[in-house]
Amino acid sequence: MSAGEAVIDVRGLTKSYGKFKALQGLDLHVERGQVHGFLGPNGAGKSTTIRVLLGLLKGDGGSAQVLGHDPWKHVVDLHRRLAYVPGDVSLWPGMTGGEAIDLLGSLRGGLDERRRADLIERFELDPSKRGRQYSKGNRQKVAIVAALSSNVELLILDEPTSGLDPLMENVFQEVIGEAKANGATVLLSSHILSEVESLADRLSIIREGAVVQTGTLADLQQGSRSTIHATLSAPVPQSALEGLSDIHVDGDRLRATVDSAEVGAAMTRLAPLGITALTVEPPSLESLFLRLYETDSTDRAAS
Ligand SMILES: Nc1ncnc2c1ncn2[C@@H]1O[C@H](COP(=O)(O)OP(=O)(O)O)[C@@H](O)[C@H]1O
Ligand SMILES: [Mg+2]
Repeated sequence: MSAGEAVIDVRGLTKSYGKFKALQGLDLHVERGQVHGFLGPNGAGKSTTIRVLLGLLKGDGGSAQVLGHDPWKHVVDLHRRLAYVPGDVSLWPGMTGGEAIDLLGSLRGGLDERRRADLIERFELDPSKRGRQYSKGNRQKVAIVAALSSNVELLILDEPTSGLDPLMENVFQEVIGEAKANGATVLLSSHILSEVESLADRLSIIREGAVVQTGTLADLQQGSRSTIHATLSAPVPQSALEGLSDIHVDGDRLRATVDSAEVGAAMTRLAPLGITALTVEPPSLESLFLRLYETDSTDRAAS
C-alpha cells in the first residue's frame, strides 16, 4: 500500500443495539502513516465503531475495511497486523504484567525486545506485579507497552490513556509520535480534545453515531469565527460592518465576529477608517468542540 491510501475505510456504517441506533451512517477514512484523532463525547459511538473495525461486532449496514479487508471476515489475519488498546484493560489476574506483555506480543508475531524494555522504563511500569495487583493506570500501561512493542502497521487506541497521570500522558504523546515516525498508522479515540490535538494529523468528530466534521485542525478552525476588537480614529460607519456578526459598536470602538476565512476582507474595510488599536482572536478550538458537542433533543431511541 502507498501513502494516501486508506488503512481504515468506513462508509455509511450503521449499528443498532436493539432499537437504539448507536451508529447512523458513519464515514471514517484514515490514511496510511497518519495519526487520526477520533473525537467525540461519551456515548457518541467511538467504541462501537472501533469494535466493528476489530471484528468484534458486525455492522448492520454500510461497509468497513481495515487494511484492505472486511474485519468481520479476516479477523485472524488482521490481528497480526494491528494492535488494540481499549480504555479499560483487563488482565489475567495471576499473570505478571511482563508475561501479559509477552503473551499479547506473541499474538502479533513477537515483540521488539529493546523497545519493550525502553517502554517499560519510560512508563515506569513494574512488570513483575501480577494482574490483580495493578491499578487501572498500570493496566493501561501494560496494554500500551504491549501494543507499542510490536511492529504493527496499525494501532487502534480507544481512549488508551484513561487513568494515566499527566506525566505519563506526556510519555504517551512521545511514544505515539515515535510510532508514527516509524511508519505506523494510528487511530486514537478520545473525548478530550487536548489529548489528540497535538498528535493528530487529521481529526474526525463523532456525535450521535455519525461523523459531523473531519479534517485537519486548521480545516476545523476554518469553519469557525474569529473575534475582532478594533478602535478606529472615527465613529464606525455602517459600511464597515459588512460581513461581521455579533456586532457591538461603542463610539469609535468595535467588537464583532467574522468568519475566519474573511478576516482579511474585514480588515480591508476597516483600514481606511484609521485603526488605532486592533486584536483578532482566533477561534478557540475548545469553543468549536463545545458547540459540536451540544446535544439536541432528538430522541433517537424512540425514532
Ligand atoms: N452492548 C450495548 N448494548 C446497548 N447499548 C450499547 C451497547 N454498547 C454501547 N451502547 C450504547 O451505544 C452508544 C455508543 O456507545 P459507545 O460506542 O461505547 O460510545 P463511546 O465509545 O463514544 O463512548 C451509547 O449510548 C451506549 O450506551
Ligand atoms: Mg468508548
